[in-house]
Amino acid sequence: MCGIVGAISKDRNVLPILITGLKNLEYRGYDSAGVAYLKNKKINIVKTSGKIINLENKLNKNDKSNIGIAHTRWATHGKATSINAHPHSVKHITIVHNGIIENYEEIKDMLEKENYSFKSSTDTEVACALLNYYYEEFRDVDRTIKEFMKKIIGSYAIVMIIDNDLDNIYVLKKESPLVIGISDNTNIVASDIRAIVKYTNKYYILNDFEYAKVNTNDVIIKSVNGDILSKELHTINLEEIDNSKGHYKHYMLKEIMEQNKTILRTVLSFIEDGIDSLSKLPDLTKYKEIYIVGCGTAYHAGLVAKYLFEEITNTKCNVYLASEFRYQNNFLSKDTLTIFISQSGETADTISSLKLVKSKGYPTLGIINVDNSTISYLVDKCLYTKAGSEIAVASTKAYTAQIALLSVLVLSHGLRNKTISEDYVLKVIDQFKNIDNLISPLLDDKDLYLSIAKKIYKEKDIFYIGRGLDYYLSMEGALKLKEISYIHSEAYSAGELKHGTISLIEKSTPVISSATNTKLNAKTISNLEEVLARGADIYLITDDNYKDKSFTIINIPKVSIFIKPILVIIPYQLIAYYTALLKGTDIDKPKNLAKSVTVE
Ligand code: G6P
Repeated sequence: MCGIVGAISKDRNVLPILITGLKNLEYRGYDSAGVAYLKNKKINIVKTSGKIINLENKLNKNDKSNIGIAHTRWATHGKATSINAHPHSVKHITIVHNGIIENYEEIKDMLEKENYSFKSSTDTEVACALLNYYYEEFRDVDRTIKEFMKKIIGSYAIVMIIDNDLDNIYVLKKESPLVIGISDNTNIVASDIRAIVKYTNKYYILNDFEYAKVNTNDVIIKSVNGDILSKELHTINLEEIDNSKGHYKHYMLKEIMEQNKTILRTVLSFIEDGIDSLSKLPDLTKYKEIYIVGCGTAYHAGLVAKYLFEEITNTKCNVYLASEFRYQNNFLSKDTLTIFISQSGETADTISSLKLVKSKGYPTLGIINVDNSTISYLVDKCLYTKAGSEIAVASTKAYTAQIALLSVLVLSHGLRNKTISEDYVLKVIDQFKNIDNLISPLLDDKDLYLSIAKKIYKEKDIFYIGRGLDYYLSMEGALKLKEISYIHSEAYSAGELKHGTISLIEKSTPVISSATNTKLNAKTISNLEEVLARGADIYLITDDNYKDKSFTIINIPKVSIFIKPILVIIPYQLIAYYTALLKGTDIDKPKNLAKSVTVE
């Protein structure tokens, strides 16, 4: 979503640093951009709606500055116009802001009575005016920030410059990430380490209610009370934030293809020494029930885990969409463990659900891909998927990494509650160790996926059906296709078809399915025959033999139930990819979608 970069340097023009930083955050999604910097001893602001290239074109190529702040905005309060774009400036203060000021209307009323007027419809301009109000009253930056932090309800990462204090950049943080990158004579602040990685690998992390004064020699980090804090200097792990597209046409394809490495990398430390390594995972036997909360693809990974917890370890597991969970009666208790799944660790609804559980004092666990993310800080314990940077909006390798990590969690739980044997677990571990050989043939079957894509890419409606685990996988398959190809695609439980959806089946309607459960396959096949009789074209992923059927078959090898979801989803991902490719959509950045949804 929104991205922040700010830089100050003794000897460099920071404008290229700011623009490069914004470009490295582009993958998060945005709809306007802006920059503020020093020109002829005054703060000059350039803003525009649309892409960063529009901003670059609007900047005077000869401009140079040693201080500047920049932002990409995803519209929340007010449309995606250049007026609403950041930076916002009120008298002495200029800021960029990520997050949401919840009490901005009340503050705006208060400031209007003090003769402040507003140009934009943003909460950020109100925050900027409030900072200016306190700055004019106290003429002291520490006091200004303290009063601001006391007054604001909501979340913020703010980078601020003050017109009569231009040797410093100030950063303030609550519930929205901020890092401070350190290099010789140049310091760079940003909402994500990807924005600073080209210039440094050393950085500080700010915690909530902390702020910092950053200049060319020094970074002074303080608590809200003004106490100077001594902070750990972190080092960036370059491999895990690899932003390059390699030789692939799209990040999404690269990320799909990387799954032969990312799955094993995620689980390796829990399986490398056989059964013993699994004991590194948290003991879940003390809980009566598991709750799982997430959004989008993360929610779908939760459904797979629910199936495994319940079917394999006889442990009750409920899965909730975070946007629902946060507003419903959840019957939580100290005997429930709530697991929060999130690639980014920044999804607003997931964070709010987590805060709700924490406010009641109940236990939480995170399954997160991005370290130093908000959720990773807030949960009692965090397990990391090691999928590396996922740039494409449509999640692929993060999903299979989530499933793999949840699978080893279920396996360790099954051993502890004695619902599965050591022999069984060892066989699954062997298959995880062999995952590259199992999935590489599926990843390489481009011709098959392309031939399916050619048949379906002009269709308006596509249905995905399945039963049990295959139903949960079909939900992810349908989501992948609709996200990037813009074709209406829906997942239905195969058994529910005849309660409504079958009326939508016409001649040549594509129905895509997976049947990988010996107990349920015959039923799914009957449902497929029903839609076939009504003219549908059937595409079936299966580990069984249905060669005599009039279906297009994608065969996967027979593997453990813990590995099946990974094998089924790869054809789904690649069918979606090649369909979108034929349609010519913006695959990595589909319209109206963002990688990280940091607003409700
Ligand atoms: C957005 C993304 C999806 C993702 C969902 C949850 O909708 O486009 O790909 O699954 O958010 O994101 P999270 O970072 O919490 O996993």
